[in-house]
Parts: sequence; structure tokens; C-alpha cells
Amino acid sequence: MSDLTQTDAWKALATHYAGIKDTHMKELFAKDSDRFNKFSTEFEDILLDFSKNRITEETMDLLYKLAEQQDVKGLAKKMFSGEKINNTEGRAVLHVALRNQSNTPIMVDGKDVMPDVNDTLARIKAFTEKVRGGEWKGATGKSITAIVNIGIGGSDLGPVMVCEALKPYSKRDLEMHFCSNVDGTHIAEILKKCDPETTLFLIASKTFTTQETMTNAGTAKKWVLDAFKGDASAIAKHFAALSTNAKSVSEFGIDTNNMFGFWDWVGGRYSLWSAIGTPIALSIGFDNWMEMHAGAHAMDQHFLTAEPKDNVPLTLALIGLWYNNFFEAETLAILPYDQYMNRFAAYFQQGDMESNGKYVNRESAKISYQTGPIIWGEPGTNGQHAFYQLIHQGTKLIPCDFLAPVDSHNVLPKDISAPVDHHPILLSNFFAQTEAMAFGKDAATVKAELEKAGNDAATVETLVPHKVFEGNRPSNSFMFKKMTPRVLGSLIAMYEMKIFAQGAIWNINSFDQWGVELGKQLAKAILPELTGAGDVTTHDSSTNGLINYYKKQRSV
Ligand code: F6P
Repeated sequence: MSDLTQTDAWKALATHYAGIKDTHMKELFAKDSDRFNKFSTEFEDILLDFSKNRITEETMDLLYKLAEQQDVKGLAKKMFSGEKINNTEGRAVLHVALRNQSNTPIMVDGKDVMPDVNDTLARIKAFTEKVRGGEWKGATGKSITAIVNIGIGGSDLGPVMVCEALKPYSKRDLEMHFCSNVDGTHIAEILKKCDPETTLFLIASKTFTTQETMTNAGTAKKWVLDAFKGDASAIAKHFAALSTNAKSVSEFGIDTNNMFGFWDWVGGRYSLWSAIGTPIALSIGFDNWMEMHAGAHAMDQHFLTAEPKDNVPLTLALIGLWYNNFFEAETLAILPYDQYMNRFAAYFQQGDMESNGKYVNRESAKISYQTGPIIWGEPGTNGQHAFYQLIHQGTKLIPCDFLAPVDSHNVLPKDISAPVDHHPILLSNFFAQTEAMAFGKDAATVKAELEKAGNDAATVETLVPHKVFEGNRPSNSFMFKKMTPRVLGSLIAMYEMKIFAQGAIWNINSFDQWGVELGKQLAKAILPELTGAGDVTTHDSSTNGLINYYKKQRSV
């Protein structure tokens, strides 16, 4: 494929950008009273308002042409039909099969994957119902009251994020713990809260080789064996595995009857729809987890079939690309105004950055344009009192996605626990922030306010520049009726397909992650050096210096 930046669609966007880059959103809104209707769309219970962006209809037309030129739809069809689009690993990319509730056959290497998918889901249903119903007993005959999921990256972030986001649906007397960090502090603090007689460990690892997970799993196994005086039969009652690697699961000592498998065509960061989602089913119930699948499947079908201008993930992908590649924005802030969604941005840090953090294209050539953005964010309103200053008045352009539920799960009774209803207060902030970002506050208004407050002329002159908000800072706003399993499933799939579409346009493979390998390799080489005698001299002077400082200073 030729250089993307030299293609017709790209060049047309570059010319258009030169003409529009200084246009203020104030002007765009003033010119068109119908702007909200033109630049907003609904998908089921989700509204997307993308009118507060530095776009016109011409911008969007040119962006949709870029998507057409790069054949986003063609690659999507290949993905959904099981073609091996993960070209550097020779794998299909079929998280969409895991939620393919219409059950149409999807073939990989001449075999329909759906019977195995359905079979595993049925096993997970039986397992989770047994645990939730108290039928699953620990070694001393007691029911399970705590789950410890041991996994990292995609084998942790998805289940953590969902269990938080859908807490209102959770079984409150089944404690959920998530252990990911190899820092012993993580598991130590979790084990302090658990009783070996009533704790069930899920060892979640696609490969079952990941250092962090296997180290934590080994510690958990010893903790259980110590509690049951070395009785190895306790392992079958207190451990299950979520993995593609039956051999290593068995070698670890977990009964493969307690193993829930998946396949190499499920990427780690897309695996919450697979057996990796077992903790979700344990917490919110299998049927609610299936509701998430249904919401995601509906979004998948929408992405595949909707016209470009109605296509929510495609539209988001193109707006993101517009800022990333033309306005040279480096980041995207994801800002949910829903405390339950407190891990949503962290989840998509992996989802987006591991997928599209690539500088080599599908033809193995180094590319000359920007790819994936830096993803970050925290729930509103906390972020407002931390980093929004830079969003409003900093020197960087920070496109933001704001998300909020129309209705809260927690309507605090006015007369008992709260003097006022919280939710309108939360939402007034949600509405205000995007308004402030887009329209700002001009010098004349600031000056008038300062004068009205009785400031002298010199003070007014000094303060005006500090208090002006330039505005023209872009945002997307999502509102959804309520945070339900179906809505969450749709929102996750929406971002997944957005990431897919951007990767397709940038002509990169969004489904490998070679960039995580070097650090793992070097850590493996360094580990034995930390306990060896004498100074380490095998690295650069900085790395040697740090290792030798540690060796001299450590007290144990
Ligand atoms: O190191 C990155 C990564 O491979 C992720 O892609 C993956 O989600 C995570 O590690 C965990 O891998 P596993 O499930 O094999 O333990």
C-alpha cells in the first residue's frame, strides 16, 4: 500500500484542514441552529452528540471518503468471517464470535467455531450457578464467599472494569478480589481479607506463562496447601483456570474439569467475552453477562451494516483521527460521569494503546504518520478538581469523550441520606464542562465581570488574560439511559470497533503486541543477577548502577 499521507483522500483532508483549523466552534454553532441534530446520533439507549467538534459536513464527508478509500468495511468483513487478519501471528480475530448471539457459523481453518464457543459458555453457566448458588463447596464443605481472580492485562482489566461498572447487579455476599501486580503487596493484602475455607481462586491467563500471574498463582496455591496441611485434593475445590493452555494448567495442579478454555483467536485485550469473563458471570450472574454479549453483538451488527454517516464506531474513529493526524493532538481523555465506570479509561488504555501503538504497517514498513493516541482519564467530577485546568487553559489540544447515564442507580432519598438529589448536580457538571470547553469565555465578558466585582483598572488589566477561556476545545458526549449490562456491552464494542477502524485506516495490525516483549525478556535476564555475588557489569552504566545500588542497599 502506498503512503497513506500521499493518497487522494488524505490530501483532500490536509487541504480542508488548512482552511478550517482556525475556525471557532462558536462560529459553527452560530451559523447553523440545527447543528446538534446534524451531528448527533442514537444507538438503542445511547446518544452520541459529536456536534462540539471542529468539523463541518464537508469534514465528515472527507473523513468518510478516507474510510472508504482505506476499505475499513472490507477489513471488517474479513474479521467477522474468520480470516486471519492478525498477519504477524497468523491468527483470526474473533472476539466477535464470542458474542455472536445470532449463532451464524464462523469458520476458521474450515471449522465452525460456534459449537465450541457455545459449549464453553454452557460450562461456565453451570459452574458459575453452582458457585453463586452455594452448591460448590470448599475442602471443608463450606460454600464460597470470596473469589480471587489472578491475572494481568486483558486477563484482569476487563473483569475489574465490568465488575465495578455493573456493581448494582452484583451478588453482594460474594466478595470479588482482583490480583494482578507481581508486587507481593497485592496478593498479601488480598489474602489478609480471605478465608481459605471459603475462597475460590481463578487463575486467568491466556498463555498460562505470564510471570506476574504464575508467581501470584504459586503463592495462592501455597497459601491453600498450608491452610489444608498439604492436602493436594483441596486444589480442585479452591482453584479453577481460565486459559488456552490445558497442559500448563494441568501441570500447575488444577483439574482440567475446572478449566474454561478459549482460543488463540481471542486477543487478551478483547477477552472479557470469553472464559476470562467468568469472574463477571460470578459477580453479576451469567444472564447479565449474556446481556452484555447481546449489547455488544448489536453494536457489532450496527458497525458492519450501518451507513457511514450513521455508523457510531466509524464516526468516532474518524473524529479521533482528525485530531490525531491533522490537529496533532496526542491524547484522548475518557471522562465518565458515573462513579461505577471508574476503571473504564484504564480498561481502554490497554484496549487502544496495545492495539494501535504501532510504528510499522501491515507491509512491515515504518510509517510516517501518527497512530494510536495516549488514552487517559478519571471519572467526573473528580477530574475537574485535578487536571481539567490543562484541558481548559493549557497549551495542548485534548479531545475528550464525556459519558453519563440519564438515570443513576442510586437515587439518594432527599429526606434521609442527602439533603439534595446528587444526580442533577453531577449532570449539571457534565453539561457545563463541554459547554465551557467549546465556547469558553471572552475577554469582554471577563472584563465586565471583574469591573462589576469592583476591581480597579490595573487589576482588571492584569487578570483578564488569566481568566479568558479561548474555547474551541473539542468533545464527544455520550448519554445513556442507565448503566445496564446491555448498554455497557454496546459501549465496549463501540470503542473496540472504533479502535479497529482507526487501525484499518492507519494500515497497522491492531491485534499483536510485540512491544511488550523486550521488557519481559530483559527482566528475565536481570532476575538471576539480583541474587548473584558481586557487582553487575553486563548492562549500560545506568542499569548497572541501579542494580548495584539495589544490591548494596537491600536489607533482606
Ligand atoms: O503483556 C501483554 C499481554 O500479553 C496482554 O496482551 C495480555 O492481556 C496480558 O499480557 C496477559 O496475558 P495472559 O492472559 O497470557 O497471562
